[in-house]
Amino acid sequence: MSDSGKEEWGRLGGIINAKNAREANQAYTKWASHYEEDVKNLLFVGNETMVNGSIEFIKNEETTLMLDVAAGTGMTAQSYRDAGFKGVIDALDSNAAMLQEAEKKGLYRHTYCQEVSPDQPLSAKKESYDVLTISGAMHDNHLPADCISTLLGALKSGGLLIFNSRKTEKNVGYQEFLRQIITSLVEDSKISIVKEDTIRYHDLVSPDTGEPMMALLFILRKK
Ligand SMILES: C[S@@+](CC[C@H](N)C(=O)[O-])C[C@H]1O[C@@H](n2cnc3c(N)ncnc32)[C@H](O)[C@@H]1O
Repeated sequence: MSDSGKEEWGRLGGIINAKNAREANQAYTKWASHYEEDVKNLLFVGNETMVNGSIEFIKNEETTLMLDVAAGTGMTAQSYRDAGFKGVIDALDSNAAMLQEAEKKGLYRHTYCQEVSPDQPLSAKKESYDVLTISGAMHDNHLPADCISTLLGALKSGGLLIFNSRKTEKNVGYQEFLRQIITSLVEDSKISIVKEDTIRYHDLVSPDTGEPMMALLFILRKK
């Protein structure tokens, strides 16, 4: 890490403080080739903690189909593989440069370059996946909170939607809206909540608050 981690926080800040999704996407294109080195230096553990908190709920067979949404450079899929996930994994991400890095790992069957939005179904086949995972992307300028129904569209009935969402001051409004959407889907019998937890996100304290950096973990089941 650079002396104080300032360079890494600076590059991460370019994403966190982006004015809109387009600006965040441009920042990812510049960041793609050193994204992994930076997040490792910033002791990002959000993938491992999400995997540890969810693997027991996943049917772990060679035919199990997982879609790694907002796959980035493939760190989430790699964490599931490291934990022994045996199934087939596809990737979807809106940034071509990040996906290009992911493809080098040979982890995925198919990759889809698409921006997830509330208005458009996913390009991946409808109702075909057993599991959708999302790590590091349930916040502003990334996946809109109201895209949950779009994501559910790609899941089989009984399939799981697993995601983390970092707990920061900036993300409070996003998470309030997300909870309203989840509550309304539960009331409409579209999903059930399998698990909600708080997990580590970085093995660091926040430079802003001095508190450990945590995230929410949600596991939702499509009815
Ligand atoms: C912080 S990275 C996380 C990558 C990976 N899951 C990980 O944990 O290392 C967030 C990723 O979300 C992607 N992304 C952001 N908004 C998106 C959207 N609306 N649709 C699809 N991908 C999006 C970005 O391109 C980026 O690759």
